[in-house]
Parts: sequence; structure tokens; C-alpha cells
Amino acid sequence: MALYFREVTYGGIAGFYDYGPLGVALKRNITNLWWQMFVNEREDMFGIDAAIIMNPKVWKASGHVDTFTDPLVECAECKSRFRADKIDTSKCPNCGKAGTFGEARQFNMMFKTNVGPVDDDSSVSYLRPETAQGIFTNYKNVVDTLYPDLPFGLAQIGKAFRNEISPRDFIFRVRELEQMEIEYFVDPHKWEEAFELWRQNVHAWCDALGLDKNKVHELEVEEADRAHYSKRTIDFEYDFPIGREELLGLAYRTDFDLMNIQNNSGKGMEYTLKGSNERFVPHVIEPSFGVERALMAVLAEAYTEDEVNGEKRVYLKLPEHLAPVRYCVSPLLKNKPELVAKAREVYASLKKKHGNVMWDDNGNIGKRYRRQDEIGTPYCVVIDFDTLEDDTVTIRHRDTTEQSRLSIADLLTK
Ligand code: GAP
Repeated sequence: MALYFREVTYGGIAGFYDYGPLGVALKRNITNLWWQMFVNEREDMFGIDAAIIMNPKVWKASGHVDTFTDPLVECAECKSRFRADKIDTSKCPNCGKAGTFGEARQFNMMFKTNVGPVDDDSSVSYLRPETAQGIFTNYKNVVDTLYPDLPFGLAQIGKAFRNEISPRDFIFRVRELEQMEIEYFVDPHKWEEAFELWRQNVHAWCDALGLDKNKVHELEVEEADRAHYSKRTIDFEYDFPIGREELLGLAYRTDFDLMNIQNNSGKGMEYTLKGSNERFVPHVIEPSFGVERALMAVLAEAYTEDEVNGEKRVYLKLPEHLAPVRYCVSPLLKNKPELVAKAREVYASLKKKHGNVMWDDNGNIGKRYRRQDEIGTPYCVVIDFDTLEDDTVTIRHRDTTEQSRLSIADLLTK
């Protein structure tokens, strides 16, 4: 059953992925969990949804037009292009010829487009390479309309686009990605305590994804390696099957972005502390989460092999709150109308309650269990002849493969 697709009609394009019914369900569960934890459950956080294409002045002021670049090299022999910092440039990884690379040049990763019917320099804009700037440009609107107490944060989930030179490793480095970003506005004197709180919140997020604490690592990023706007960055890395790599980042962006906007737009970005006349441009702590990397870590963590009755079994040990399908409902036999009717009744009630409930009456029960194991369904519910007598069902548990009996009433209040 498909979690994700490589588009098959025309073969797709490198760095872009489509998600199938199960993949999108898993992705939604991740983004909904994030919104629940970081927006709905908190008093100091507010959501926004900014446009993907913004005024190009945004990207000039943010530094992206000038500095959002990666070093690019081209092989003189086979013309393949690579990110210079990701390969050994003494030999071309494609054709194998040595000494074919010249000097690296800086390649800007923003996708360009033209807005409106005129196709010239005056109409150039960009697909946003990060969701963050849409938050900074809306900060003033939120202060003017809601006037939240400081510190407060703005959160956004949305697509971002990066023309990566070498997209790679499944969805680890893609060209169309989704970010879940927070800009948390603080009193400049209090940035350290806010940074520490968000460091802890990030760990709580990794726990909520079900990631093993021993596989999550903090990397204090050296000044030379930090983004141009950051005074402190911690990369949270995860032990992916491809190695230890960045899962998400936590940065202290100072007042870099709001000051840029103030200086370039002429609009004041100051915040007046409530109950005083003190005014200042807030500083910003930015936890920035990539959806694809969260999804990839969740899949890597969940992938499990064991042995059941002497046979190898592969299953996804997904946390119940992330599983694309929570319950699979089956009649024991699909040619017994009374079983099918009762099973349909149970299915309809569970579906109404949880939404992510699947019906499966194909093949024998053993095969149905294995199919559900593979997609990480925690519970399979089977309606048999006893159900017709006493209103109980068999519930089969994914991780232990154990089966127990439960009344339908208890199942529906679970
Ligand atoms: N606003 C800050 C920012 O965008 P970043 O470190 O460039 O910082 C944040 O990106 C997160 O977005 C990364 O930690 C990663 O999870 C995700 N990300 C960035 N580029 C990506 C790509 N090409 N493919 C998949 N995820 C990516």
C-alpha cells in the first residue's frame, strides 16, 4: 500500500514527491500534532498563513537574493553539476574522470518566476525558500490587531521551495518542501531563557514523534557555519538510516529580520511593553521544523522486523496518534451477510469517531493482519460469530500480535 508516489505518467522530476492516501494521512497527523502542541495548546502562540509568492523586496531585504546560495561545480567532461561541499571534487562522481572541476561558483537556490503578463526583470519574484519571512512581514499586523503580551510567537505551516543542486536520499533533501516554523518574539534581554525553553520544547516534540532519545543529538553550530542572521544555532540531528543528519534547527535570529524590514520598508517594528513606555524591536528565537525530515525520522524509527510463528515479519511501530490508519475492521468471512452487516455497523461507528479507520475484507485474516502491520495500523478489529451472540469483537494488537476480546461498547469509548 502506497505511502508515497513517484509520479508514474511522465516519470516525475528529481526532488519533488507526491504522497499517496496513506502518506498524506501520516503527514497530516504530523502537522496537526505540531499545530496542536505549539498553537492550540498555548496562550502565547498565534497562527498565520502567508502567501508563497511575496513582494521580491522581502527577499532582497532578508539577504536571500544575495546570500541564499550553495557552491556549484560543473564537470568539464560530462557536464554534470554538483554541490561542491558535498563531494570529493578531485574526481567526478558521475563519469569518474579526475581534475575536471574548475572553481566553484555560488548558485542561488531560489526558484524565480514572473508575476503578471509581462515577462521581464520588473516582474520577477520568487517562490519562498522559507516560510519564516511571511511571519516577519505579518508581525506588525498581529501587533496592531491582537497586541499580544511579549513574549509571543507566530507559527506557520506551509510549502517552501529550494532549487537544490543535488536533491537526495528520498525526501531528506527535496526541492519542494514543507516547513513548520515559529518566530518567537522576546525582550532582547531575555533571549537566552526563551532559547532554553524552546530547546526543551524541541525535545518534547521529538518525544511526541516517538523518536528514541538516544538517536536525537544537539549540535552547537560554530559561528563560521551559522546562517548570516544567526547569533546562536543548535541543529537537532537524528540518526537516520543514511547517517546522522539535521532534523530541524533552533536559531537566535536577534532583531536581524525586523530591523531589515524597518530599514527597508520605513515601517516601525517596535513593540511597546504593556504598562510602560519602554519600546524596542523584539529579538527572535526561531525553531524551524521540516515536515519531510520529521516524516522520514518517524518512518525510520517505526520500521521493525521480527519473527512470528517462524516467519519474518516487517511492521511499522508507529505511535497510535500518528498511524495513518488507527483501526482496520473486518468480518471474519466476507460471504456471511450477517457478519458483514455487523462489521459494517462497527466500522461506521468507529469511522465516525476516529476518521482514520479502514475496511478490509480481502484475503484471509492472516494476510489482512500482515497488510495492516506493514502500514502500522495499531489495531485490527474482527467481527465473528461470537459477536452476533454477545456483542464482543476480537481486537488484534500490532506490536505483540496478541488478540483479546472487547465489547463493542468499550471499543467505542476507547
Ligand atoms: N527559516 C530557517 C530555515 O529555513 P533551514 O535550516 O534552512 O532554516 C529548516 O531549514 C529546516 O527545514 C531544516 O532543519 C530541515 O528540516 C528543513 N529543510 C531545509 N531544506 C530542506 C530540503 N531541501 N529538503 C527537506 N527539508 C529541508
